[in-house]
Amino acid sequence: MTTLDAALSGSFAIGGDLKVNRLGFGAMRITGPGIWGPPADIEEAKAVLRRLPDLNVDFIDTAESYGPYISEELIGEALAPYSRGTIIATKSGLTRTGPDEWHQLGRPEFLRQGAIQSLRRLKVEVIDLWQLHRIESKTPRADQFGAIAQLQRDGIIRHVGLSEVSVADIKEAQKYFKVTTVQNMYNLVSRRAEDVLDYCEQNGIGFIPWRPIDGGNLAATSAEFRAIAEKHDASPSQLALAWMLKRSPVMLPIPGTGKVKHLEENIAAAAITLSDADFATLDRIGKQG
Ligand SMILES: NC(=O)c1ccc[n+]([C@@H]2O[C@H](COP(=O)([O-])OP(=O)(O)OC[C@H]3O[C@@H](n4cnc5c(N)ncnc54)[C@H](OP(=O)(O)O)[C@@H]3O)[C@@H](O)[C@H]2O)c1
Repeated sequence: MTTLDAALSGSFAIGGDLKVNRLGFGAMRITGPGIWGPPADIEEAKAVLRRLPDLNVDFIDTAESYGPYISEELIGEALAPYSRGTIIATKSGLTRTGPDEWHQLGRPEFLRQGAIQSLRRLKVEVIDLWQLHRIESKTPRADQFGAIAQLQRDGIIRHVGLSEVSVADIKEAQKYFKVTTVQNMYNLVSRRAEDVLDYCEQNGIGFIPWRPIDGGNLAATSAEFRAIAEKHDASPSQLALAWMLKRSPVMLPIPGTGKVKHLEENIAAAAITLSDADFATLDRIGKQG
C-alpha cells in the first residue's frame, strides 16, 4: 500500500522559524469555474481540506482573490482551530471582476485591507506568510513595499513572500523587508524561473512553484518516461512532484485539487525517491517540453 505522508517530502523552515513539510496544498481549486464563486461540490472541497491534517500536509497556499474570498472562508470553516504547526499562506494584490478576470492592484490601502480581512476569514491572529500576488506597475513600488513593511511592523503579518518576480525584484524588495518565499510558475515542462529558483536556493528563500503538475496535463509521451513511471508505479504528475522535490531543498510544491482522490495521489508522491539517473532523464525530457 502506498504511504500517504507529506512528511516524507522533508521539511523547510520558512523565514528560518516556520517549519513545514515541503509537499503542501494549493487551495485555488476549491472554488467555482474561472476561480469564481463556490465549488460545484462544496462537501467534497471541505472533505479535501479536512483530509490535509491526516496526510501531514501542514502548508496550505491560498489568496483572497480565489473565489474571491471563498477559498479562505472554506479553509477557516473546515480547519480552524488549526492543528499545531499548520501554516496558511495567503496573498493580496489582485482584485476580481468575474470568472477568469484578474486585475492587479497594489495600492497601500487595498493591501492593508486585504491582509486584515484575510485574518478574519482564516480565523487567525497573525498571517504567518503573506504574499504580494503581483507587483503592480502603476502604484510606486516604494508604496507597495512600504505598506507591506508596515503590516509586518504592526504584527498583522509575520513573513512576506512575493509572486511572479525576477531576481532584481527580490533584491529591490529586500531593502524593505526580508523576502522569505517566492512563488513563480514552475514545473517539469515550464522552466523559465530556473534563475529565480537558483537565487532562492543560494539565499535560503522558500521557492513555491505554482502549477506544479502543469494543471494535471502531464503525460508520459516517451518510452523513457513510461519506463520510469512503471518502475515507480507512478503517474506523470507524481513523477513531476518527486522530480521537483529532488530539484532543490527549498522547493515547496503546492499541487491544487478539489478532489480527495487527487489529493491523495499527489501526496503519495512524497514517498517516491528518484535515483540520480532517473532525475537526470526526467530533467532532460522536461526541458524538451
Ligand atoms: N501565484 C500565482 O500567481 C498562482 C497562480 C496559479 C496558482 N497558484 C497556486 O498554485 C496552486 C497550484 O496551481 P494550479 O492549481 O493552477 O495547478 P496544478 O496544481 O498544476 O494543477 C491543478 C489541476 O490539476 C488537476 N489535478 C490535481 N491533481 C490531479 C491528479 N492527481 N490527477 C489528475 N488531475 C489532477 C486539478 O483538477 P481537480 O480539481 O479535478 O483535481 C486542477 O485542475 C494553486 O492551487 C494556487 O494555490 C498561484
